[in-house]
Amino acid sequence: MCLAIYLFVICSVTTSGYIVRNEQPSQTRLRSFPEDFFFGAATSAYQIEGGWNEGGKGWSMWDHLVRTAPDAILDRSNGDVAADSYHLYKEDEFRAVQGGQIGITLDSEIAMPLNPNSEVDIQAAQDYMDFHLGQYADPILSAPGNYPPRFIQLISEASTRQGLNESRLKTFSQEEIDTIKGTSDFLGINHYSSSYVYRNQSVTNMHSVPSALDDAQVGTYKDPSWPVSPYGWVATYGEGLHKLLVYIKNTYNNPIVYITENGYSTASGRNDTGRSHYYREYLNGILDAIDDGVNIKGYCAWSLIDNFEWSFGYSVRFGIYEVDENDPQKKRKAKHSALVYKEIIRSRVIDASYDPDPYASDGSLVVKSSFIMLIAIGIFNIVL
Ligand SMILES: *[C@@H]1O[C@H](CO)[C@@H](O)[C@H](O)[C@H]1NC(C)=O
Ligand SMILES: *[C@@H]1O[C@H](CO)[C@@H](O)[C@H](O)[C@H]1NC(C)=O
Ligand SMILES: *[C@@H]1O[C@H](CO)[C@@H](O)[C@H](O)[C@H]1NC(C)=O
Repeated sequence: MCLAIYLFVICSVTTSGYIVRNEQPSQTRLRSFPEDFFFGAATSAYQIEGGWNEGGKGWSMWDHLVRTAPDAILDRSNGDVAADSYHLYKEDEFRAVQGGQIGITLDSEIAMPLNPNSEVDIQAAQDYMDFHLGQYADPILSAPGNYPPRFIQLISEASTRQGLNESRLKTFSQEEIDTIKGTSDFLGINHYSSSYVYRNQSVTNMHSVPSALDDAQVGTYKDPSWPVSPYGWVATYGEGLHKLLVYIKNTYNNPIVYITENGYSTASGRNDTGRSHYYREYLNGILDAIDDGVNIKGYCAWSLIDNFEWSFGYSVRFGIYEVDENDPQKKRKAKHSALVYKEIIRSRVIDASYDPDPYASDGSLVVKSSFIMLIAIGIFNIVL
C-alpha cells in the first residue's frame, strides 16, 4: 500500500435558487438546491498540469514512478505534459479568490452490511468504515479524537497473528490527540462507489498479509445491478452517496461537507451518456441528504478536463471536457455530460430527459469571472 498526497483544485460557480424537479418518477415533490450551495468541477495538479521539469520544480513521486517503472502505467504514458495546464492555465480556470477555509479531503465509500440482519456483517461494515474513512477522519473530527478504537484493536490483533511483538500501528500521545482534534474547517469527500461488506470463514486468508482488508477481516461485494463503465471500475449507486452523507452527519456531529470529487470513467469520445446518468444519480443522492439535514455546501464533479489517470494513463477518461491529445493546442471540447451539468447548474433542475447533442457546437471551455478556486490537500490509499 502506498500513500499518495496530491494537490487538488476546485473551481466553483456562483449560484442562485431554482426549483428542482426530481429525477425519480415516484417522487413528485419539488426540491431545490439551497441558494448557498455551489457547483464546480475538480482537477489535480499532476493529472493535468504537465510542465514536469519547468520553473525550478523538483521531482514528485510520480515523476519518479513513471521513469523507473513505466510498465506500472497501462498505456506507458506519463504526466510530463498531460493537459498542459501549466501553459494553458488561463484558459482552464485558475483565477484564485481567497476563500478563507482550510480543510481536508478524504476518499470514502459507504460500506453496507451484506446481510443487514446479521450482527457480524453490521460490525464488519462498521470496521470497513473505520479503516477507510475513520482512520483519517476520527483523529480530526470525532469527539474523543484519536484513531477509531476498533481500528486500533484490529491492527493489534492482526499484528499478534503475524507473530509481531507489538502493533504495527503507532499510537498517538494525548498531546498529539489534542493537537490534531478539530483542525479542519470542513470535510471534503471524494466519493465514487460503494460496497457491501461481510465477514465469515472465507475471509481468513482471502487477502494479502499485511493489508487493510486482512487487518479488518472483511470481504467486499459490488451489487451487479449497479451500472459499471466498461472503461474503468466505477459502479453507479447514487443512493450510496446519500447513505455516506448521513453516516458522516451522525458520526462526526454534522460537519460542513463538500463533495470534492465524484465521477465516472469512459473511453475517449464526447457522447458520454453514462457519465451524465452517473451525475444525475449522485446529485439526486445529495438532494436526499439535504432533506435529511446533512450540512453539505457544495459539489465538484470529477473532472473538469481529461487527465492523466494514474496507472490507467490516458486510456480511461474522467473529464466533462475532452482534451484532444493529438492536437498540439490540446483543444478542450464539451462532452454530453458538460452540457447536462451546465444545464443543472443553470436551471437547478435534475432533468433526466434533457439530452443535448455534444457535436452540435464546438463546445469550447469558457471560464466566467464568477469562478472562485478552493485548494485542498487530499490523501488516499492506493492498494498495490
Ligand atoms: C519488538 O521487536 C522490535 C524488533 O525486534 C524491537 O525493536 C522492539 O523494541 C520490540 N518491542 C517490544 C515492545 O518489545
Ligand atoms: C461467505 O460469504 C460470502 C458472501 O455472502 C459467500 O459468497 C461465501 O460462500 C461465504 N463463505 C462461507 C465459508 O460461508
Ligand atoms: C449518444 O449515445 C446514445 C446511447 O448512449 C445514443 O442513443 C445517442 O444517439 C448518441 N448521440 C449521438 C449524438 O451520437
